[in-house]
Amino acid sequence: LREIQFMDTQANTPASSILIRAAEPTDAAAISALMGSEGTFEGTLQMPLMAVASRVERFSKIDITNVHLVAVSATDAGEEIVGAAGLFQLHNSLRRAHARGLGITIASGWQGQGIGHQLMAAVLRWADNWAGVLRIELTVFADNARAITLYERHGFVREGVMRAFALRDGIFADALAMSRLHPNPPTLPKP
Ligand SMILES: CC(C)(COP(=O)(O)OP(=O)(O)OC[C@H]1O[C@@H](n2cnc3c(N)ncnc32)[C@H](O)[C@@H]1OP(=O)(O)O)[C@@H](O)C(=O)NCCC(=O)NCCS
Repeated sequence: LREIQFMDTQANTPASSILIRAAEPTDAAAISALMGSEGTFEGTLQMPLMAVASRVERFSKIDITNVHLVAVSATDAGEEIVGAAGLFQLHNSLRRAHARGLGITIASGWQGQGIGHQLMAAVLRWADNWAGVLRIELTVFADNARAITLYERHGFVREGVMRAFALRDGIFADALAMSRLHPNPPTLPKP
């Protein structure tokens, strides 16, 4: 891995030529294409057969209160965005200012190679050490074993089953609510 650019030197397992960096507005179309691609959209709430342009405006906007990262395969032929992950504000409420939602997607040909781990570690370092996010929450289809394994490896716990959560290929599928609380929240010095 050509190291994560934006912060610390914590362990980041070297692997192939995958670079993890901040998403830029110029990545919007590639991220949108990834989100809508077969083998990825089914596990999320994205729709099939949607125009790439339908998500471009959203991904072109930079939100400095959140992190949005991409995993890039860099070869002599150029760059390919093979994964994306980010946090998003759940409610526009000061009382939920400590919480963020998490989304993550890896392109189907690149799944199962540890890229999800790399993106998750980078997102969590940003959240824990730089943004002071105290609670991260997500929903995941209850039969998405790979995603659940990834989340549990990174400290998420199951909070409950959301029945008939979303329509997936003609069937209402259950989802798990999962969350991770900051393992070691920063504290203020004594006055
Ligand atoms: C779910 C997803 C993000 C995981 O990322 P990934 O890069 O494929 O996963 P990783 O290679 O980092 O592996 C994650 C863990 O799952 C394990 N795993 C892999 N395949 C698995 C399977 N079929 N069942 C259970 N665990 C599996 C891996 O061994 C690894 O665990 P480890 O810590 O013991 O090594 C990715 O597969 C994806 O984007 N899928 C489609 C979209 C999606 O479902 N997004 C999640 C929406 S909530």
